[in-house]
This record gives sequence, C-alpha cells and structure tokens, in this order.
Amino acid sequence: MIRRDLLKGGVAAFLLSSPAARAVAAKQDQRFPPGFMWGAATAAYQVEGAWDADGKGMSIWDRFAHTPGRIKDGTTGDVACDSYNRYREDVALIKALGLKSYRYSLSWPRIQPDGRGAVNSRGLDYYKRLTDAVLEAGVRPLVTLYHWDLPQALEDAGGWPNRDTASRMADYAAIIGHALGDRIDHWAVFNEPKTFTHLGYWQGIHAPGRTEPLAFLKATHTVNLGLGMSFRALKAASPRALVGNVCDVAPMLPKTTSPGDHAAAARYARFLNRWFLEPALTGAYPRVLPPDREHALLGWQDGDEKIVRADLDHIGLNYYTSWTVADDPAGANGIPGLNAAAEWGVGNHAKTDIGWDIYPHGFFDILTDMHGLTGHRPIEITENGASDNTPPTTDHHIHDRKRIDYLRSHLREVRRAIDAGVPIRGYHCWSLMDNFEWAAGYSQRFGLAYVDFPAKLERKPKDSFFWYQKVIRENGLG
Ligand code: FCB
Repeated sequence: MIRRDLLKGGVAAFLLSSPAARAVAAKQDQRFPPGFMWGAATAAYQVEGAWDADGKGMSIWDRFAHTPGRIKDGTTGDVACDSYNRYREDVALIKALGLKSYRYSLSWPRIQPDGRGAVNSRGLDYYKRLTDAVLEAGVRPLVTLYHWDLPQALEDAGGWPNRDTASRMADYAAIIGHALGDRIDHWAVFNEPKTFTHLGYWQGIHAPGRTEPLAFLKATHTVNLGLGMSFRALKAASPRALVGNVCDVAPMLPKTTSPGDHAAAARYARFLNRWFLEPALTGAYPRVLPPDREHALLGWQDGDEKIVRADLDHIGLNYYTSWTVADDPAGANGIPGLNAAAEWGVGNHAKTDIGWDIYPHGFFDILTDMHGLTGHRPIEITENGASDNTPPTTDHHIHDRKRIDYLRSHLREVRRAIDAGVPIRGYHCWSLMDNFEWAAGYSQRFGLAYVDFPAKLERKPKDSFFWYQKVIRENGLG
C-alpha cells in the first residue's frame, strides 16, 4: 500500500517535472470556473447621447459638460456613441465578442425628467428595446440604476446632500422594477458611490462640481439611505430581483514607512473601501469620524440603522489602481477625524495612458480583503480596464498591446483570488467601446472597440477585442 502510494507519487512527480506536463498544468491553472460570467460594461451618459431626445430631462452631467472649462477637451456627452439610436450595433459587438453578461445603466432623467413624478414612457421604451435585444443575443443584462446622471432638478433642490433625494431614488427604483422587472433579474443600485460623492461634492471635478466637504459627508449618508430604500423598493416591485451595489475599491498604500502614514492609510481604507457597504451589511459606519460628532456630521436620524440595512444579493467591485496615503495631522482636507492626504494612481509603477499606476497585485489584495466583509455573497467584478490611446494604423488596425497586458495581468489576479476562496462569479471589462470619459471627455480610450468620434461613430474591434473573445471562448487565459 505504502509502496504503491510512493510509486504513484513518484510517477506524478516525474510527470509534473516534464516541461510538457508543466505547461498543461499551468494552462489548467488559468481556467476559470464553469459558467463564469464574462462581461463588459458601459454607462448611459457615456454612450447614449440623445441628451434631450424624446422627453429626456437634463442631468447634472448635461449641465456640467455644457459649462465651459469643466471637460478637458471641451466636449460633451450630447452625442457620445449615439447608442440611443445605434444600440443594435452595440449588441452586434456584444454577440461577436461572445459576452455572457452586459452591464449597462439607466438614465434617471430619461425616465423621470425631473427626478420626481411623471414617468416618460418613451425613455422606458428605449430600455425595453435595448434589454430585449440583449436578451435575444442570449446575454444576461446586469443593470445599474444610477451611474452618476442625477436629474438636474434634484440637484437644484439640494442634490445628494439633501436627505429627500434618497426617497426620490427609491421611487425611481420602484418605477424601474415595475417596468423592467419582467426582463431583468440582476441589478446594481449605485455605481461607485465613493467616486460620485467624492469627486462631485468634495473635490468638485465631476458633476455637480461642488467643493463642500461637509455637504459631501451628508451626501454619503443620503446615498446609503437610498441604497437600503431602493433595495427594498426594487424587490417589492419585482420579487425576483437580485439586487447589489457597485463599489470602487483600491489598496490604500502608505506614502512612507512611518507609523503615521500606515495609520492614515488604514483610516482611509475604512473610509473609502467600506463606507458604502458596511452600513448596508451591518447597520453602522466604519469608525472614521469622531464618535461624538458622527451622527451630526452625517445627518443621521433615529432609526437610520434600519433604513440603511440591505442584505445585498451580490457585490459589484470595480478596480483600476492603487491610492497613496499620507498622514495629515492638520486635517487640511476638511473631513473631521480623517486627517489624511490621498491621491489615486500615483505609485512608482508604469502608468496607463490616463496616468494611473498599473498595480495588478493590489487587485488580489483588495479582493481578499473585501471578502472578509462581504462573506458568502457572490462578487462580480463590475469594472476593470485601462486607457490605451493607441491610434489606428493606416490600414485601420488598432494594436492596443498595453490594454491586453493590463487585462491579462489583472485577470491572473482574479484567478488567484478565486483560488484563495473569494466567490467571484463574473468579470466585466471597462469598456465595451471607447466613450465619453467624464471630465477627460474623449481624450481617454478605454474601449475594446474603437469609436471614431466625432465622425461616423463606427465601432471597430481592436486587438484587445479579439484577445478577450479568445479568453471568453476558452474560459480562461491561454
Ligand atoms: C470608473 C467609472 C466608469 C469609467 C471608468 C474609467 O470610475 O465607473 O464610468 O469612467 O472609471
């Protein structure tokens, strides 16, 4: 018996020591679990255009982009990829790529032009047409309710710092559940609440362009109230709905080895990585703000611990780069108790074309870290990708080598995290095609397909498109 086992072990060792056997084993290592949801993502304002068509109301991004000086290249999302009219071309791309999942978002002011009251049925009809086309292609829709385009009328009433916006959001979620719940099962309430509150109300470089740290804190709490309320509203309207939230997460790296920077990085991680999940999952905020002032700073009211709760069905995580954090005892950023100065994407590694550090190991680190909070819930990577502005060659090919390298190195880390026990169910590349990259306008290209703005808006697969197509076909990295 022992001898037989020894013999078997010896044969296995011998086989594994042969280069061919090692190559086969390595290849199997890079396979993903059966049924893995390979996807790509877009967002309404970044691709749809038709900014005032068919009764659509104005969003804060329409207003912001129309304000001179806000967008780097002076462009707007007025036309973008014109997906409102060309969604069939998008679905043809999705089919050609072989996607299992397509993540897109709904424009709130297309459906409720003023963010409250009357519903614009022509807006809803667009999403019915788009969703039907996605379903006909055999692809699962994963739909985000809010990817940053707040109706301007609600901003005029105070925006996210105004607690009432949470109730408006829940009403909107109910409308969506009734109208689209027969077609769509998988939902995300918010996209990157950290980014839209932080850049919109604190840093002022995204819509609505406010620089008010204390209003920002209020905004974060309204969003968390809105998450709990929308979660329940959507499920009440569509009992089969599976509802999650999409958070951008990143390793927070101390700027130096000093204990002060280490502690600041830990504070910042609690703040940015967990602020929009812990309240839903536990009913309380991670400890950052001074305890005796937390409720006042957030506008917390008695009973909010119940309202913010949502037993999310799945968790969406977006990852691009790392953050670097330094201690700031003077608290110059205006958030009481945070006392840290942080920047994203500024480490010592190679950069993507938008200037963000390429740090694949951080993906593994943050996935395993977040798993400690999210537990058994399935995780979907809802965004990951790189800006690579490689122009077309004279014979119209786009050799976007840097994007392929980025995606490959990051997918390896996803695979490693799965091995480490993180229940990752899907991965969505940002983005299906080049689109309006917020304050950077059309200057940064994140797409698997090239779009020739502002000319014909044709979608042309890049090398990365064909590379990803093969990954999907083989269910893994070759
Ligand atoms: C994320 C956004 C997405 C896209 C990528 C590059 O923060 O969610 O819309 O702009 O960055």
